[in-house]
Amino acid sequence: MDKLIISGGEALHGEIRISGAKNAVLPIMAATLLADSPVTIRNVPHLHDVTTTMELLGQMGVHLTLNENMDIEVDTSTINSLYAPYDLVRTMRSSILVLGPMLSRFGRADVSLPGGCAIGSRPVNLHIKGLQAMGADVEVINGYIKARVDRLKGTKLVMDLVTVTGTENLMMAATLADGVTIIENAAREPEVTDLANCLNCMGAKISGAGTDTLVIEGVERLSGTEYKVLPDRIETGSYLVAAAITGGHVKLKDTRPDIMDAVLQALQEAGADITIGEDWIELDMHGKRATAVNVQTAPYPAFPTDMQAQFTALNVVAEGAGTITETVFENRFMHVQEMQRMGAQITLKGNTAISTGVKRLTGAPVMATDLRASASLVLAGLVADGETSIGRIYHIDRGYERIEEKLAQLGANIRRVPA
Ligand code: EPU
Repeated sequence: MDKLIISGGEALHGEIRISGAKNAVLPIMAATLLADSPVTIRNVPHLHDVTTTMELLGQMGVHLTLNENMDIEVDTSTINSLYAPYDLVRTMRSSILVLGPMLSRFGRADVSLPGGCAIGSRPVNLHIKGLQAMGADVEVINGYIKARVDRLKGTKLVMDLVTVTGTENLMMAATLADGVTIIENAAREPEVTDLANCLNCMGAKISGAGTDTLVIEGVERLSGTEYKVLPDRIETGSYLVAAAITGGHVKLKDTRPDIMDAVLQALQEAGADITIGEDWIELDMHGKRATAVNVQTAPYPAFPTDMQAQFTALNVVAEGAGTITETVFENRFMHVQEMQRMGAQITLKGNTAISTGVKRLTGAPVMATDLRASASLVLAGLVADGETSIGRIYHIDRGYERIEEKLAQLGANIRRVPA
């Protein structure tokens, strides 16, 4: 298994391009199951989770073609299996996103229950409850969700809590339902909006995307389209923190500043000088050390849980004391103990990480068991004296395209080595 080796100390400088959003491309790939002619997806990030989703669709008999720009063309006319096996769902929870589309278009779906994961128990009860309210017969047998229906019926769904993939699954299911579905307390994440835009390009009738009420008028069929995935706001935020933490100056291109308000605000509070254009963000620390911030995660448009670990890394080397409170997932502080091993002064009190910044961390062998925690250890390594080696980097490869190349382009001393 590969490792990343980082020698800390360099302030990051330069320009890089941001990739397409992981959490948008995965639901859009699932949405292709709804179309009766080929869908072409552009701006696809080169990520392990994308490969896993291609494998999942491929196992169903779906025909996928990749061109030299990494555009994926998906043709579902050859589908011959409506089954998502445990082996794939276990490794990538977003596989659950095939449930709504398969059931809605083909009237049946057998999808493995994902089970717990490194950041919390993460049940999918609201996905199931919503499909049942739309008339589906759903049972959980032998670890599998078995869903059957003649045709889903539009209805009003009030979500008990804000769930991103839950909203996406039910929105996709509703596109081919009989009648109108209203989803209240819907997730407002930009990736949900991107999926709605893509579905509308396929012929769906969805309004209200980006608000907490979605109205979906069911149609008889959806057809192929060509769709460009929105930029990754979490990748963007991660590189901005990398620059801030090292006292650097970077420009990120092909991104979307308009969907980054909470993160940009936190960076400004940390002392960053930020300039934005329509599709770029420039961050300059003018060589200064960052100031610690207090943030609390919550659904969009509030501060994203997917940026929590990276800001923890910022706080542990910033000037002063700061608190990071996690409200979305129950157990998303895996990085804290690893940062302590690197000399961070940080303690956990309930769902809050309280830190007093130290000037430098010390390099150490570390590893983490989820994507964003692993990324935060890379950031910590950038400000550690000596060498930090990060194990289990397959987590990072799930969600960051060529992280070591992009960081090296910004001047970081980082390399990938086979373990
Ligand atoms: N929840 C339930 N029941 C459900 C669904 C969710 O109790 O049926 C709970 C979860 O346990 C959690 C909260 O609701 O406490 C919110 O979870 P949500 O369903 O919104 O998370 P998700 O859809 O599984 C997506 C992203 C995550 C991101 C979260 C929150 C994708 C593929 N994944 O997960 O991304 O953290 O939304 O924004 O879109 C990542 O990229 O590293 C990542 C984990």
